[in-house]
Amino acid sequence: MQGSARSIAVFGAGYIGLVTAACFAHLGHRVTVRDIQPERIRLLNAGDVPIHEPGLGDLLAENKERLTYTLDATEAVRDAQVAYICVDTPPTASGDADLSRVWAVINALKDAPHLSAVVVKSTVPVGTGARIRAALNEAGLEHVGYASNPEFTAEGRAVTDFLHPDRIVIGTADHTTAALLTEVHAGIDGPVQHMDVASAEMVKLAANALLATKITFINEIATVCEATGADVSHVADAIGMDHRLGRHFLNAGLGYGGSCFPKDSRALRAMASNSGYSFQLLNAVIAVNDLQPRRAVQRLKAELGTLNQRRIALLGMTFKPGTDDMREAPSTVLASRLLAEGAALTCWDPMARPADTAPWATAERHPTIIEAITAADAAVIVTEWPHLHDVDWEQARPTMRNPLLFDGRNMLDPDALSRVGYTCMSVGRAT
Ligand code: UGA
Repeated sequence: MQGSARSIAVFGAGYIGLVTAACFAHLGHRVTVRDIQPERIRLLNAGDVPIHEPGLGDLLAENKERLTYTLDATEAVRDAQVAYICVDTPPTASGDADLSRVWAVINALKDAPHLSAVVVKSTVPVGTGARIRAALNEAGLEHVGYASNPEFTAEGRAVTDFLHPDRIVIGTADHTTAALLTEVHAGIDGPVQHMDVASAEMVKLAANALLATKITFINEIATVCEATGADVSHVADAIGMDHRLGRHFLNAGLGYGGSCFPKDSRALRAMASNSGYSFQLLNAVIAVNDLQPRRAVQRLKAELGTLNQRRIALLGMTFKPGTDDMREAPSTVLASRLLAEGAALTCWDPMARPADTAPWATAERHPTIIEAITAADAAVIVTEWPHLHDVDWEQARPTMRNPLLFDGRNMLDPDALSRVGYTCMSVGRAT
């Protein structure tokens, strides 16, 4: 690697930035990570990892002599040949992406004497690259190449996804930058797709919107299954055997959450709308997904007669298992709706960080599943943590005031639970 090792500045020490930095260092590059949060940089310099991501800590530790962490943007770019922008692009009230952090980085690139390319990994609206290109030219950086290199890693498996991707998308207008980035990725086990900047920006938004649509489609089928007596799990398994459709992302549940699908689908809708087109399919996907946890609350209410003063246990809080991330978690919508109905909440999650803000401030958090369901009128599986498979549900049943189990992720066997005395509810099945 020595010969082709590059000096890379990574802006943003969040999920994407840290995984990118760790993996590039693993490939042999020298990487300087810059973040604006002092606590984050302090932790990283102390050898700690500020986020939970399997394999990330090991990779950062193994490659620590090639990694530097700083709060100083000038220091980050002093030796950099490539600047990777991995800052967050949170949604504004209208759903548009807030690009202020991206622009702050662009403005910091003026003192980068060795810079050959600026690469955006952050998810941005189509057309952002063209604006950045113009800004670089205006700042006298015409000689610096520009590329969009969107990220397709999923939380909880980001390191593996990064090193073994289905594809690496490189969108750039010039061959030199395309060649440089292909070389930077040497050693990664995945095909490189070259294209123009706008198309690369669109690939990211379209891929996430299609995955969100696939989940929403099966959630809609699940609702019809509930009304007609079909079982969505059988339907999804058989649909998925058609190789044109695939089984992935056909698990019905309480709706998609996380830092990407909700934000990116709203961003694509806002972008389409800004360009004069109403993206009707995406409007429906977003509306159905917003409804999905609310429907679960209504079904629970119908089953219990009322939710007022009922003790409800929420099992799982994070937006999916294997992460501590609570961003746009369906559990938060469920908790708010249940509290609004007068319910008392208990909750359990093995990894969610303590949440002392509404609605969680009023929920009793317990260290074990059994304690969380004790004296409950209903338990709802919100996140499919594997720990739920290890519970002796037969032994647990008498601890509940009312043995109603709503499996919001269809992970347990309802027949087995019914046999040991539970009333079962799930998504897209008769029980
Ligand atoms: C997602 C994409 O999968 C990544 O490819 C993408 O790079 C990433 O967003 C991003 O844009 O950064 P992530 O948000 O980490 O990754 O999580 P997923 O595993 O995709 O799950 C998203 C949500 O969909 C979760 O709430 C999950 O419970 C839900 N989901 C997923 C379902 O309800 N059903 C399914 O069948 C699959």
